[in-house]
Amino acid sequence: MAENTAGLRGITAGETALCTVGQAGTGLTYRGYDIHDLAEKATFEEVAFLLLYGELPTAPQLEAYLERLKGLRQLPVALREVLERIPADAHPMDVMRTGASMLGNLETEADFSEQDQHIDRMLATFPGIITYWHRFAQDGTRIETDSDEPNTGAHFLRLLHGRSPDPLHVKVMQASLILYAEHEFNASTFTARTCASTLSDIHSCITGAIGTLRGPLHGGANEAAMAMIEDWQTPDEAERELLGMLERKEKIMGFGHAIYRKSDPRNAIIKEWSRQLADKVGDTRLYPVSERVEAVMQREKGLFCNADFFHASAYHFMGIPTPLFTPIFVISRLTGWAAHVKEQRGHNRIIRPSADYTGPELRTWVPIEQRG
Ligand code: COA
Repeated sequence: MAENTAGLRGITAGETALCTVGQAGTGLTYRGYDIHDLAEKATFEEVAFLLLYGELPTAPQLEAYLERLKGLRQLPVALREVLERIPADAHPMDVMRTGASMLGNLETEADFSEQDQHIDRMLATFPGIITYWHRFAQDGTRIETDSDEPNTGAHFLRLLHGRSPDPLHVKVMQASLILYAEHEFNASTFTARTCASTLSDIHSCITGAIGTLRGPLHGGANEAAMAMIEDWQTPDEAERELLGMLERKEKIMGFGHAIYRKSDPRNAIIKEWSRQLADKVGDTRLYPVSERVEAVMQREKGLFCNADFFHASAYHFMGIPTPLFTPIFVISRLTGWAAHVKEQRGHNRIIRPSADYTGPELRTWVPIEQRG
């Protein structure tokens, strides 16, 4: 394979009506709407509806959608029991993977005509799956996963902290969930589509995608970015340490992108929310450190922050534990994955690419007693 096509870079692997990356507007569009408009004006559920059903909802449609999701938040008893058996030191992404898979055992998609109801159920239960396990693993509390919170972000924060969320935090969660919702043929979405192309069930598609998102080169980058910046007390220390990492040719998590070349359009949006949260909590360390890291990476390597970098500080300022960062990405990207599964099912052909063979020429069979 020619080097510039390694990782399938630049190769068109199918069609989608869901999203453009680096082509139109400010660089990211969902079904024709610019990400800046959506992050500023829409709610996450409007965006979920847009991705899953093709158009923005009318007011009655949105109201019905929110009510439907609210009514589906209770976890089945058998799923709670499974979550309680997962070790307290497990990785939360493994919890999400098991949670999605167990739900598929309990509420199996028998026919594709049921796909929307299973997608709604996952959207409604994923915040409960991760927070139920987290709270139980931390202090043995068995939380109620129902809440009256009107939207997914507020619901997640309430279950996590056990109290009514701060309105600014709810706004940031809305924006964050919108930014993470969809991104064309990224690795986890491609996993979901490949699984869908075999006519597998929706829970298998989503479970496979969660496993793919787990890696630090994909969704795990926000956690890795947090682990890096929280060690640094001042911008000067950050610069010194960062220069050392670059000299040792280490990858800096939260920087660079496979498609964007000059900037990630999601960064400016989450960076501004991170700044507002830093002001609110009176931070004088993490945000200035993050800004210095951004400046040094631009100066030294011409590399820009991707969506993950300022998500790290933003989530931290909202009191979200670092290991839960990537599960929030799952709660959001579920919408994009599921929309792609529906699209794949709509015009399906099994995904089965070819490979350039690099092994030995045809050889003669050697009986075991004659092998050296
Ligand atoms: N830190 C240091 N160097 C980086 C880098 C980073 N975050 N991202 C890219 N580079 C370097 C690459 O090593 C490569 O150098 P080389 O030519 O000497 O090997 C060069 O920049 C060009 O890389 P590019 O082709 O643009 O990246 P890619 O398409 O292979 O990989 C990522 C894209 C996202 C996987 C990569 O940028 C990365 O690993 N980033 C960190 C993880 C991350 O934040 N992931 C979340 C993505 S939204």
